[in-house]
Amino acid sequence: MTSKEIRRQFLDFFLERDHRFVRSSPVVPLGDPTLLFINAGMNQFKPVFLGQTKPVAPRVVNTQKCIRVSGKHNDLEEVGVDDYHHTFFEMLGNWSFGDYYKQEAIQWAWELLTDVWKIDKQRLWVTIYEEDDEAGELWAKFTDIPRDRILKFGSKDNFWEMGETGPCGPCSEIHYYSGDDPSHQTASGVNSDPAYREIWNLVFIQYNRNADGTLSDLPRCHVDTGAGFERIVALLNGHQSNYETDLFIPILEKIVTLTGKPLDFQAGVPHRVIADHLRMLSFSIADGALPGNEGRGYVLRRVLRRAARFGRLLQMREPFIFELVDPLIEIMGEAFPEIVDKKAHIRRVIRAEEVSFGETLDRGLEIFARISGKLKPQETISGKAAFKLYDTYGFPLDLTQLLAREKGFSVDVAGFDVCMQQQRDRARAAGKFNRIDDSREWITVSDGPSGGFIGYEQTAVKATIRKYFQSVDYVDIILDKTPFYPEQGGQVGDTGILKTDNLRIVVTDTFKTVDEIVHRGTIESGTLNSVKSLRAEVDSLRRNRIRLNHTATHLLHKALKMVLGEHVNQAGSLVAPDRLRFDLTHFEQISRADLKKIENIVNTEIRKNLAVTTSVTDYKSAIGSGATALFGEKYGSSVRVVEVPGFSRELCGGIHAYRTGDIGIFKIIAESALAAGVRRLEALTGEAALEFIQTQEVLIEKVRGQLKCSRSEIPDRIDALIEQRHALEKELESLKKSGQAAVMEGLLNRGETIGNVRLVVTRLEDLGDLKKLGDIFRTQARQRAVALVGTVQNSRPMVMCAVTDDLTGTVQAGEVVRSVGAQMGGGGGGRPHLATAGGKDTSLLDAALETGAKLIREKLQKGAG
Ligand code: ALA
Repeated sequence: MTSKEIRRQFLDFFLERDHRFVRSSPVVPLGDPTLLFINAGMNQFKPVFLGQTKPVAPRVVNTQKCIRVSGKHNDLEEVGVDDYHHTFFEMLGNWSFGDYYKQEAIQWAWELLTDVWKIDKQRLWVTIYEEDDEAGELWAKFTDIPRDRILKFGSKDNFWEMGETGPCGPCSEIHYYSGDDPSHQTASGVNSDPAYREIWNLVFIQYNRNADGTLSDLPRCHVDTGAGFERIVALLNGHQSNYETDLFIPILEKIVTLTGKPLDFQAGVPHRVIADHLRMLSFSIADGALPGNEGRGYVLRRVLRRAARFGRLLQMREPFIFELVDPLIEIMGEAFPEIVDKKAHIRRVIRAEEVSFGETLDRGLEIFARISGKLKPQETISGKAAFKLYDTYGFPLDLTQLLAREKGFSVDVAGFDVCMQQQRDRARAAGKFNRIDDSREWITVSDGPSGGFIGYEQTAVKATIRKYFQSVDYVDIILDKTPFYPEQGGQVGDTGILKTDNLRIVVTDTFKTVDEIVHRGTIESGTLNSVKSLRAEVDSLRRNRIRLNHTATHLLHKALKMVLGEHVNQAGSLVAPDRLRFDLTHFEQISRADLKKIENIVNTEIRKNLAVTTSVTDYKSAIGSGATALFGEKYGSSVRVVEVPGFSRELCGGIHAYRTGDIGIFKIIAESALAAGVRRLEALTGEAALEFIQTQEVLIEKVRGQLKCSRSEIPDRIDALIEQRHALEKELESLKKSGQAAVMEGLLNRGETIGNVRLVVTRLEDLGDLKKLGDIFRTQARQRAVALVGTVQNSRPMVMCAVTDDLTGTVQAGEVVRSVGAQMGGGGGGRPHLATAGGKDTSLLDAALETGAKLIREKLQKGAG
């Protein structure tokens, strides 16, 4: 039976029992921060179980795409080594939301397995939760499974939970004995011997697991079931392995074709891993995930790099995994059309990742071989070595662990974590220090703490100088407190003035070292000698323009997520007075239509003129309230939250508009590719946006004036002009042709006659294509005619010889032009009936024509004689 038929039969069985079909949700969860990937069919119904939303129907059925490579349910280590665990799989499920309960769930599962699919009852086992006698009774009463095949287990096996928190309850599993000899079955094999495979789990959801670990009763009881589709397809077709089914065979065959390595190579592990990982990658990319360095993106990257390493075992040095997307689509595109729609995108993303990892993989493997070569059996690879593989060669920790395991070693994970942390600290410090040479000698003015930023509310204060440093080019000053905002989080540093009655310093930049704010500028008048305090004044007009751009950046960030999807993350930003720039993780060009939508959303928020609020809170409650934190940023325990009420909430230390309306207007002016998977947007706000629009206006007005039409007519006018131009070009072409024809006609009449042959030798103005001229001549003359025409094209002498077909036995055009071309310092050639030659020196043209004519005459005379 094909997988398509089996999927259909499952759905039909429950549709016939009043269930409603619900589509699989995307594998990338929408709005559930507790999950990186959908790991069970019930995930999309979590709010229904918790009583937060109403179900679409009391009974539903579906087949859900699931990924288990992270969090509570993680099967990665088993994948490929065995033949029935997967990173990606389909879970067939039926649900009751406060409708039927244990009895029907049990009865129907048994009926479908044993009646419809005719699975051998002598191989089936059932497990129940040790405290759930009711389920045991129902199995015994409503099915014909023997009592000794109903086994009790504890909460590890028979109490199902979605994650650390969420709906949960006791469950009852159905296991199938896949061993060769049914007489070898024993109750003790269930949940311990891999020959007994769990094929269906019936969960009786009645609790919610709270964050503090306690259970609370749900208002109603529900049924949540999940059957492993790949295992059932294997079982119904008499296969031991999921990889022997039609869900995998076409992918495996393609791997064999591409690699030339048979399926039994290295016990089939590389083929299986690659086929499995391809499915996980394709479906998660189709649903909006992208490989990256953090969170979900890093899971994709790890899986891909693992697959790429197994590709190396098959001696594949070039990207090839992306080629497997095609057979996958053949198998699953009908049930899940999203992979068909996103085919090009999936292939591109996988290929780009394969290329980038391919560059370091071999060297990393060499380093690994060197490290492991020095170890004795069972020894540990140091955290430092694992970190080097990670940092320099892009080996995710689990890839190093996998390589280590294959050789019987382990990896010092704690040591790895320490190195990772140290590197983060170093990077942070370096980023802040690099503008100041450590060894410089500051001049101390006063003692005491320095640096506090007090500029959210004020832009001018009296401040005390702590120390300064003066060079030929600039002066750096550190104050006890400052209203100057130092460059950080994308926002540029403030500029302004530091002054006393006798001293004026123009501050051109403000930035931060680890713990101090540096004002860098030049002394315009006076001297710093013996100055202790001064007035620090920020250029507040410039600051105001920065504010607008910063708040607009937050609005843009949120609008991008709304329009393009949750995969969008800020990869960099610049908030300057004159513009803003925003780099985002996104794999394709953003369409004009989407840019417009994004612009509209931002401008709508601007027009609402909402008061922008800031508050300081602890990191946990900020994130809990849904605030967006940026990738790779380290936040202290207390954080500042900037909120546009009802729209966006971000952790941010920057300076913002008081009300969104202050932004005035927001305009995107450019969209471009920055790197693989990263796009860059540039935008303007307020005055700058208005100026931009006004400039466009001037441009349009100028074009309108030139075209002498109304604005709305401009595109049509331009179309008309382009059309007109094409028509003129054509006309010119045909005029040239008829010009050539007329000239040729005249020449024919004037030519000399040798025997009964017309010979035309002449020099002409440039009439365009010489070959065409030759064709015209041959057509007009029809027979018994030869032409030798010289002209100057682009300051080069050119010659064409044309001979009517009846004379090519006597005179060969190619031969004639070769000799003429040589005489002009060049060369040429062609066919016996038509040939051209070019030379270098135009002063040789006439003489060369003469020689050519002589050659032709001789030949004609010889031919006649
Ligand atoms: N939610 C249950 C599982 O994933 C059915 O096993």
